[in-house]
Amino acid sequence: MTEADLTRWRQRVEAALARALPDPALPPQRLHAAMRHGVLNGGKRMRPLLVYATGTALGVEEAALDAAATAVELVHCYSLIHDDLPAMDDDALRRGQPTVHVAFDDATAILAGDALQALAFEVLAHAPQPAATRLTMLQTLAHAAGPAGMCGGQALDIDATGRRIELAELERLHACKTGALLHCAIRLGALAGDATPAQHAALDTFAAALGLAFQIRDDLLDIEGDAATLGKTAGKDAAQDKATFPALLGLDASRARLSELAVTMQQALAALDADTRALTALARQAIERQH
Ligand code: IPE
Ligand code: IPE
Ligand code: MG
Ligand code: MG
Ligand code: MG
Repeated sequence: MTEADLTRWRQRVEAALARALPDPALPPQRLHAAMRHGVLNGGKRMRPLLVYATGTALGVEEAALDAAATAVELVHCYSLIHDDLPAMDDDALRRGQPTVHVAFDDATAILAGDALQALAFEVLAHAPQPAATRLTMLQTLAHAAGPAGMCGGQALDIDATGRRIELAELERLHACKTGALLHCAIRLGALAGDATPAQHAALDTFAAALGLAFQIRDDLLDIEGDAATLGKTAGKDAAQDKATFPALLGLDASRARLSELAVTMQQALAALDADTRALTALARQAIERQH
């Protein structure tokens, strides 16, 4: 049941993303091709799945969640394109393919990211929710993408590279660079579903734990995974002296932290008065994923 839901939601968002992207036959073709390369290249679509899982748990029709699911994935794809640039992590492989700046060039990759971010807000502005809800959704995505969210986290990441930082600072870095967009996905679903204050509170606790867990798992996979499975180059964090959980705490303590976060997520979902099967499955994926 849940697996079928996840598969269907993945198909929904793939179709919605393809529809939202500009026509590759129209100029500027190189920009449009780079945008498609950076989006339609086999991501896990974790953030859209969280939008659907949260929204449908609160009784929203799937079709009413397509815009929010698409918008948050477009911002995520933009963040990956820029994250891979030579000036940032300098990565050549993403989702098993050459990164956008390798397949095209740096300038096109920068513009593709910029254009995807703008497109995300355009898509969300056309969401079917009432205007007041839509405005809050737009504010939520803007906040999550901006200096207090993903961009701010990326700045903290750069600032922490090659430097030893405290655990609290590392948690803030992870919560911003990765947690903010995952949290946003859940919040967009909750807003679409007119969540009660108690439901928002339970989902916020769930989302905070999921965001941190997702990046700790990413840090572990960079050490334990291989390029064929990850679809991205392994071992980059140590090579670049990145601030990560395993670098600060070691592998065992990082895994222990993941187990604690799994319990926090379970407890938060138990407090949510809704069908949480899909959210439970996504929480497990965040912790156990192999890529
Ligand atoms: C990778 O995100 C970057 C992080 C925020 C850890 P994902 O692991 O969700 O990457 P895709 O979208 O599936 O490629
Ligand atoms: C990226 O974190 C977070 C983003 C905002 C894109 P990482 O730099 O660890 O992500 P990967 O490992 O390149 O996917
Ligand atoms: Mg990075
Ligand atoms: Mg990176
Ligand atoms: Mg990583």
